[in-house]
Amino acid sequence: MAKFDNSFTDELRQRLSLVDVISRRVPLTKKGQNYWGCCPFHNEKTPSFSVSEEKGFYHCFGCGEHGDIISFVMKSENLDFIEAIKELADMAGLKMPEIKQKSSAQIEAEENYVKITERATQIYQYLLYQDVGKHALEYIKNRGFTDEMIKKYRIGYAPKNNIISTKFADIKRDKLTSTGLVRIGEYGPYDFFRDKLMFPIFNAHGQVVAFSGRSLDGSEPKYINTSDTELFHKRQTIFGFNFARDSIHRNNRSIVVEGQIDAIQMQVHGFGETVAPLGTSLTEDHIAILCKSNRNITFCFDGDNAGQKAAVRACTLVLPFLRDNSDVKFAFVTGGKDPDEILKTSGESAMRKIIDNATPLIDFLWESVNKNYLTNTPGGRAQAEKYLKNCISKITDKVFQNEIEQEYNQRKFNQWHKWKQQKYTPTIEMPDVDIMTINMIKSIVQTYPELGEKYMDFLISLNISFDDEIQKTELSLKDAEKFIVSFKLQRYIKSLMNEKSKLLSNIPENAGDDYRNKLKEIDENIIKANEKLELLLDINK
Ligand code: CTP
Ligand code: MN
Repeated sequence: MAKFDNSFTDELRQRLSLVDVISRRVPLTKKGQNYWGCCPFHNEKTPSFSVSEEKGFYHCFGCGEHGDIISFVMKSENLDFIEAIKELADMAGLKMPEIKQKSSAQIEAEENYVKITERATQIYQYLLYQDVGKHALEYIKNRGFTDEMIKKYRIGYAPKNNIISTKFADIKRDKLTSTGLVRIGEYGPYDFFRDKLMFPIFNAHGQVVAFSGRSLDGSEPKYINTSDTELFHKRQTIFGFNFARDSIHRNNRSIVVEGQIDAIQMQVHGFGETVAPLGTSLTEDHIAILCKSNRNITFCFDGDNAGQKAAVRACTLVLPFLRDNSDVKFAFVTGGKDPDEILKTSGESAMRKIIDNATPLIDFLWESVNKNYLTNTPGGRAQAEKYLKNCISKITDKVFQNEIEQEYNQRKFNQWHKWKQQKYTPTIEMPDVDIMTINMIKSIVQTYPELGEKYMDFLISLNISFDDEIQKTELSLKDAEKFIVSFKLQRYIKSLMNEKSKLLSNIPENAGDDYRNKLKEIDENIIKANEKLELLLDINK
């Protein structure tokens, strides 16, 4: 039978609303939590067909028919499974993944592989509780693992002697070596994992496809993992995903930590949605897998330099997957600790605080740019701009990309271009500005930083603070500029009138040509400014 990738149907369910899909055929009305309509599967006049968007199920209380989005399309349109998926994929605007037909030889090879890894897992599990595994059991218990956890994660012990290569003598060599558990050396086959604490690595279906072995005697490397095999690709495997999957759906987010022990401890301490990449670095494939469930990821890295670097890398990888409703954040565990240690020393609530206080991607990227470049120099700013621009270009959703660009433009303007902190010492007395106008100007500057730059001198002369956040203006760029220019003119006119009335109220005794010329000049300037203002505001049109 054609095997279908579960993650695709998950994605369809995620993207499509059950109520929308059913509404195409059955008019529904919302009553309480659910939607109700007349059942399409039997004849009825009063609605007994209920649809729960939240649960993703429909149920008819009249005829007992029930199912999910896929079975609805299958039954109501008389389609088979694959045809229904095709139709739903169309609705969701997704491309159907290719369905690979596996050859029977391939299926057999895979079955053999999983049989071997399963048997090995059982042996390792058994040995952990025997004399030979005593030190391993002691070690893992010291790290806060209960028997229950050891059982759930199927942790075991691989002994020093070549247990797999000797115990599995009935199995063909190439089959054994294909699992990565056995290698062939100068003196024949030997076990890859020896004297290691064994963490099975499961595929999405919960089958053991590889192992990660931790050294117990302090020898390096600390962890060794099965090398890539037919069924195990390190770059595409996320540790703990099989256990975390439901929680990732339920909590509508995933948490990514650096180490596998961290992932396990997080999962059992209230963060079921936690996973870890295998080995040290995160790949695009890891992110793609997580993003199939949802695009809300909290990365939790160590607070050290390496952690910062890992976060920047994660940030770069995740950018193409961002959508306007994604929630991607970065949390850092400080003090040279990792989540495992935080949970042990300070408990779940401390960990929750760290997760809850995670920095949104937009802020993280901004902060790291400001940390890594000298933004108080033109050269540093130019480098930083190039870097930011490159990051922004990775966002595929164009509207969202545009928003982010605006956001950063504003930050650049507010934080890099320090002109607004300058003080203006007026040469002539200027009228005070009313608060409404101040707010309008602020929101214009916030919305259109370029206007801020253009009218910088004038804005400085207002002596108002641009530091606080204010709502953006709805004016178009053109109207916003008009507002600034007309305000500037009005202010100028007002200051001229002030000057004139001052002159008039205080006529010097020896007033002569000079005095009259001065008044004339002011009048002319007032007229000129008024003409400009009228032109600007199209008063004559
Ligand atoms: N790792 C690896 N190979 C190594 C070292 C580390 O594959 N030689 C991977 C492991 O998956 C490990 C993760 O990188 O869980 C993080 O490494 P590190 O922080 O050094 O280890 P911890 O997870 O803290 O390991 P432990 O708590 O067991 O000391
Ligand atoms: Mn650790």
